[in-house]
Order: sequence, then C-alpha cells, then structure tokens
Amino acid sequence: EKGLRVSDKGFLNTAVIHSQITYIDGEAGVLRYRQVGYPIEQLALHSSHLETGYLLIYGALPSKAQLKLFESEVMHHSIVHADAENFFRSFRYDAHPMAMLTSAFAYLGSYYSEANPSLQGQNLFTKSDPASLANMDKQIYRLIGKATTLAAMAYRVRQGRDFVTPPSGLSYTGQFLYQMDHLGQEDYRPSPVLEKALDVLFLLHADHELNASATTVLQTGSSLVDPYSAIAAGCASLYGPLHGGANEAVIRMLISIGSPENVPAFLEAVKKREKVLSGFGHRVYKTSDPRSFIIRKTADEVFKVTGKDELLETAMALHDAAIKDDYFVSRRLAPNVDFWSGLIYRAMGFPYDFFPVLFAVPRVVGWLAHWRQMMLQEGGVKIWRPRQIYVGAAKRDYVPTEKRE
Ligand code: SDX
Repeated sequence: EKGLRVSDKGFLNTAVIHSQITYIDGEAGVLRYRQVGYPIEQLALHSSHLETGYLLIYGALPSKAQLKLFESEVMHHSIVHADAENFFRSFRYDAHPMAMLTSAFAYLGSYYSEANPSLQGQNLFTKSDPASLANMDKQIYRLIGKATTLAAMAYRVRQGRDFVTPPSGLSYTGQFLYQMDHLGQEDYRPSPVLEKALDVLFLLHADHELNASATTVLQTGSSLVDPYSAIAAGCASLYGPLHGGANEAVIRMLISIGSPENVPAFLEAVKKREKVLSGFGHRVYKTSDPRSFIIRKTADEVFKVTGKDELLETAMALHDAAIKDDYFVSRRLAPNVDFWSGLIYRAMGFPYDFFPVLFAVPRVVGWLAHWRQMMLQEGGVKIWRPRQIYVGAAKRDYVPTEKRE
C-alpha cells in the first residue's frame, strides 16, 4: 500500500488531531487545561471541578453569571428517570460498577432522541445554528449532571441500599457524596474537607489530552453516534487496568505487598516481569506526572479527617524505593495520577472496584470537551477510519472441506 506509514504499536507518538483543549509537556512534567495559568497546580488551588469543566468545554474561564448558569443547569439535570432504578437492579448483585456505569451511559442515550443523529439522519450539532448549539449544551449538562447520579446508583445497588435524591443546594461533589453515604439521617451532610478533596481529585482527573479513553470517544463519535454512546465507549476504555483501572490495581498491589519490609522482594518480581508496578509509568510523562504531587498533598488533608491509612507506609516505602531504583529510572517510570489516589478513596471508604468510577465521573467533562471540539470542527466531522499494512497469507484458492486435512 503506497504512502501508508505504520505508527508504532499503541499509537506511540502518533498525532491524529489538532486540539486546543489540554497541553502536556511529558518531558517537563507539565499539564495545562486550555493553557490557563500555570501548570495544573493553580487550577487545583483556586478553581472547582465544574468551573474547570466549563473551561475545558468552552475554552475560557466562565464569568460569574456563566458559571452560575452552568452549575445550575448541571445540577438541574442530575436527576435521572425513575426507570433507571429498574435498570440498575437488573444487574447481578456483584456486578463491577464500571460495567454498570458503562452500560448506564448508553442506556441514558435511549431517552434523548433529539441528541441522536441516527434517528434524525443528520449531524445535529453545527456551529452556525444556535438551536443546535443549545441542543448540544443540554446533552453536555445532562451527561455531567447525571454521571454522579448514575455512579451513586451503581454504588447503592451494590450496597443493597435504596436510592436517594439529594436536597438542592449541595455542590457537585457534595450531592454525589450525599447520594453515596446517606443512610437516612435527617440532617446528614458530607464532610466539607472530603467534599473539597474529592472536588480537587475530580478537577485533576478532568482531562488528559488524547489518552486511550478520549481517543475512544472521538473514534466512536466520529461515526455521528449520539454523545451518550460515545461516552459509554470511552468509559469502557477507561475500565482497563492499564488506564483508569490502575487506581484499583494499586490498592490491590499494596495489600498484596502487605508491609514496607516486603517492598524489595516485590520490586525484584517486577523486574522479572512477574508483577506490574501499578501507578507507575506513563506514555507521555517521562519525568513526573504533576497530578501525583497534588494528590499526595491532598491525601494528607484527607487523612486528617479519616485517620491515616495503614497502607500509606507501604506505599511510601514502595514509592521511595522505586524512584531511586535504576530499573525504573532507566525506563523513566515515575508515579502517575493513580499511585496515590486509591489511598484517598480507600480512606474515604469507597470499595476498591469503585475507584475507576471515581476516575470516569470527572473525566466526562474532558471527553465532552474533545467530542464538542470534533463536532464543531471546521469542515464538519470525518469518520475515523485508519488503514493497516496487510501482512497475512498470500493469495490462495478455496479448498473444499472434504479435501482439507
Ligand atoms: C492513566 O494516557 C493518559 O494520559 C492516561 C492517564 C489519563 O489521565 O488519562 O494519565 C491515566 O492511564 C495513567 C496510567 C495508569 N496505568 C498504570 O499505572 C498501569 C501501569 N503502567 C504501565 O502499564 C505503563 O506504564 C503504561 C501503560 C501506563 C504506559 O505504557 P507504555 O507507554 O506503553 O510504556 P511501555 O510499556 O513501552 O514501557 C516502557 C518500559 C517497558 O520495559 P522494556 O520492555 O522496555 O524493558 O517500561 C516498562 C515496560 O515493561 N514499564 C513498566 C511499567 N510501565 C512500563 N515496568 C514495570 N511497571 C510498570 N508500571
């Protein structure tokens, strides 16, 4: 095939789009959303997840009025149809919450035909038509607002508890924690420290350029399927232990190591490729993942409320040994966003298999930012259809069954 160039396995160093959304400098360990401010630290300190979501999706920090409208629309759309209860109750009692959430996003799309180009036979979202932009915004509000509710429903059904509708006036993470942890106490309110810590974690997980799940959303969305189905596809990609499932894998790894004394033996097993050091390494960051430093600091804030996690000593021993060990240094492997986050979620009482859900929920704003950018791109949407280099069998004739050995 003339003119075809094979990109390395796993799209290594293959740029497939131009984007204005997130900037990463893997060598310098820099992450910037829409190049606002200094690296991610500034947003983590001063912004909120929803304000950052607005920035990612619409390209600029919102005015006070724009933020107020965005927040109220998202919170207004956080309610789901009552039938969703039957949907969640249809799962086996021990279904993985990421399987539930992935399915739930696609299920959600079945309610909104106005968002479904397949039903309308055309691309519904065009920059020039204000009505179509308003339609797009409404789907964006719905997906962000309902992501926490769907996640909380997956959690409640796993805990064998009824679903709860949070009171109005709570923050995005406040209403999420309320739905998760409310056990009938009249005046229950989540801890403000945990609410803020979860908002910082959500903000840090909001977007990360063209990672595997964002690419999946764009690959799927390029066929003009509805945004709910495209987000469901991204959620499926994030479920994997090489991607968003790593935060769950880190905790299981720390439990299996057991204590700081066992760290050297574990690292030897990793070097023999018998084990994987989850939470380390990154396709783009080759010096450090700036998010991991902020999450490490946030962990100390959370531990002041929840008490220190006994796995922290093992995690610190593992971290301190690996960052000095030539095997990892020579392969430029540093802690990534997943190394410390699981300790926070465990200290906050979330079940381990719920950790990837806590990655997927905030990542919805990043996926939507990429999806909206593609829908509104100059020249319209082109379906993503990569080529291949055929290296299979040469031409040969059909052999009837009776003549085959
Ligand atoms: C996320 O892309 C994103 O932006 C993702 C993300 C986001 O915000 O969306 O940042 C979120 O997914 C973070 C990554 C979470 N995954 C993990 O923590 C799982 C453990 N990490 C590895 O699986 C791995 O580091 C990847 C998948 C993250 C990156 O893999 P690459 O870029 O394909 O690296 P590689 O496999 O080519 O590794 C290079 C070398 C290899 O050694 P050699 O064969 O050359 O001798 O490093 C080794 C690898 O074996 N290696 C590891 C390792 N990661 C890479 N060895 C031990 N433990 C590891 N974690």
